[in-house]
Amino acid sequence: EITYIPGKEPHPCEHRLIFKNVDRSGWDTSIDCYLKDGGYDQLKQALGMEPQAITNEVKTSGLRGRGGAGFPTGIKWGFIPPNNTKPVYLICNCDESEPGTFKDRYIVHQDPHQLIEGMVISAFAVGAHTAYIYMREEFPEGAQIMEQAIAEAKAKHFVGENILGSGFNLEIYVHRGAGAYICGEETGLIESLEGKRPYPRIKPPYFPAALGLYMAPTIVNNVESLCHVKHIIRMGGEEYAKLGVARNTGTRILCVSGDVQKPGYYEVEVGKITMGELLNDVCGGPKEGRSFKAVIPGGSSAKIMRCDDSYSIGQGEDKKELGFFDIPMDFDTIAACGSMAGSGGVIVMDDSRKMSWVLNNLNHFYAHESCGQCTPCREGNGWMKKISDRIANGQATPEDITTLEEVAYQIDGKTVCAFGEASSWPVEAIIDKFRDELTSETSEDNEFISAEAKQQMK
Ligand code: NAI
Repeated sequence: EITYIPGKEPHPCEHRLIFKNVDRSGWDTSIDCYLKDGGYDQLKQALGMEPQAITNEVKTSGLRGRGGAGFPTGIKWGFIPPNNTKPVYLICNCDESEPGTFKDRYIVHQDPHQLIEGMVISAFAVGAHTAYIYMREEFPEGAQIMEQAIAEAKAKHFVGENILGSGFNLEIYVHRGAGAYICGEETGLIESLEGKRPYPRIKPPYFPAALGLYMAPTIVNNVESLCHVKHIIRMGGEEYAKLGVARNTGTRILCVSGDVQKPGYYEVEVGKITMGELLNDVCGGPKEGRSFKAVIPGGSSAKIMRCDDSYSIGQGEDKKELGFFDIPMDFDTIAACGSMAGSGGVIVMDDSRKMSWVLNNLNHFYAHESCGQCTPCREGNGWMKKISDRIANGQATPEDITTLEEVAYQIDGKTVCAFGEASSWPVEAIIDKFRDELTSETSEDNEFISAEAKQQMK
């Protein structure tokens, strides 16, 4: 029976597959520990299957990418051109940089062999003999843990030449990231891995599955997605698909941060829990004397939602009105409500938070992280930062809000990669939902603006 470190037990609403070993009593990152609990059993099982059969199981499971876009993993694997003669690469995207998202780090820090097992099975399925773990630069300890785990797995023939006598070869390399948010965008990541500046590539027409690393077919999957593959093999795609709800199957890890009693990570069946259950039951509700004001449901790039709004979803006979707290936490419903389930980073703000601060904080982040390749993003994010500095400092005019909105719309949809939307959507949504508040606030003591900048604005 599994027991957890006292005080870190999973909430009864959780359904842990990926985080089964996170915070487990007596658990460590060694291969001996992993093997004691059936570790690498699914790899043995998978090596006895046809690669296409593994892809089929992943398709049947309905698994959608847990990095943020929610694209079906099995379908992505199926995009490798059938007549391909080049090497195929598998890349594990561990550049987890989306503000509010902190799940992949725990997998790496506490259960590295689960990731390796998921990667070897996935590489076998897609025919890759070289795999990379692109590790966020700010995760130096994670890189060391993964290096150590790969060495242990190699010593036991789970990685390397002729894995478990199957004739299948796979080398896994840890590549330290370059310390920029854009390195997590899959084509920026690929450029970075090739040793270049991480300017994202235009897609479509060519996606990495057809033309990726060194212009060869490359599958880029998130850490959590790759771990799910192991469980799909264990359970079978059909059984796995019974978890969660239709088109939103399995479990996912929600990272809750901000103004709740119990922030943290919670692995739940997708769509089986509502926003209200998550925030009030699982996370213990708002802080003493406070009430919930707004939530960003899927990492900072997702549109902010007001907690006092109602959301109209569905069409025709299926049309219904949902209060914020009744929204189920699945990809499709959150998208229908005008936001995005994204990377699972749920950022909660209570009535003590000023929206001008939230806006300003986000604008500073995106202005700093724009890679500079596309003019609307490079210039526009700088302008948005300056305008939101004025708003946060109580010096904005109503025209400033209009200009800010116009700049956001000039970035949205006009850049090579999704960074354009990631940086403009939060601005559009905050203006849309909190316009009055933005024009009426003064924020002299805004912690995000340096004293020098405040002086200059006066
Ligand atoms: P996307 O929708 O362009 O692509 C998703 C995946 O599906 C990619 O791997 C892409 O190659 C593949 N794909 C889509 N259409 C395809 C086709 N026709 N053929 C072959 N492959 C295809 O989304 P993107 O830009 O990769 O990701 C955006 C999301 O990333 C955002 O929604 C955000 O939530 C998330 N994000 C996550 C971060 C994190 O730290 N986890 C950081 C920043 C953003």
